[in-house]
Amino acid sequence: MSRTPLIAGNWKMYKTGPQAVETAKELAALCSDVQDKEVMIAPTYLSLPLVSQAVKGSRLYVGAQNLYFEKEGAYTGEVSADMIKAAGAEYAIIGHSERRQFFSETDESVSKKINAAVQTGLKPVMCIGETLEEREAKKTFLVLDKQVSDGLKGFGLDDLKDLVLAYEPVWAIGTGKTASVEQVEEVHQYLRSLLEKLFESKLANQTRILYGGSVKPENAKDLMGIADVDGALVGGASLDAGSFINIINYNAV
Ligand code: 13P
Repeated sequence: MSRTPLIAGNWKMYKTGPQAVETAKELAALCSDVQDKEVMIAPTYLSLPLVSQAVKGSRLYVGAQNLYFEKEGAYTGEVSADMIKAAGAEYAIIGHSERRQFFSETDESVSKKINAAVQTGLKPVMCIGETLEEREAKKTFLVLDKQVSDGLKGFGLDDLKDLVLAYEPVWAIGTGKTASVEQVEEVHQYLRSLLEKLFESKLANQTRILYGGSVKPENAKDLMGIADVDGALVGGASLDAGSFINIINYNAV
């Protein structure tokens, strides 16, 4: 089965509305003839409707960086999946390590958020990854197994038809330290076989597994060339359209 690569930019807490619109428009123009992959950008909640409007009719998809799992209610400061969808987003990043680290996200809340995304028709980009301490203690697979098993517990094949997994080793995020080709290959293979074990081969074959963590124009080709890597989740290097397009075009000669 062929999987269309997804190159996603997580803009984190960067850019005001006007700045996000400017970069999004620049990127949309640069992506006009990208045919072989999907490109998604995830600006802040505030910029979502502005960016969605600005890139309408282009090849860019828009995603949120998070969502809250309740439909609506007295949850001051939160944003629901319906609101995100109505703002023009198609994807939602869920369980990013920064949310786990700074905002107490757990595998349980990740699971509820995936459920909210699925019920609303948003495509979930579920983030997983081990810390340096866990890697050094040889617990990488144990940690990933738990994050995937608990995060996806109770879902059926149909619920997960649009699932995207993003493997982001915490020690490689924003540090300039990229995981080696061997490390990424080993983990992505493991994750695909885990999906097969937990669900079935159809889901394992169709699910895109992205790599994230210091992806740059200089290393994108090597990382994206790995058999079980189906795209990238890019932080810092996605903030500038000129740099991001060089990652998106990793396979151009
Ligand atoms: P960097 O590309 O800045 O390391 O960030 C990766 C990331 O966290 C994307 O979600």
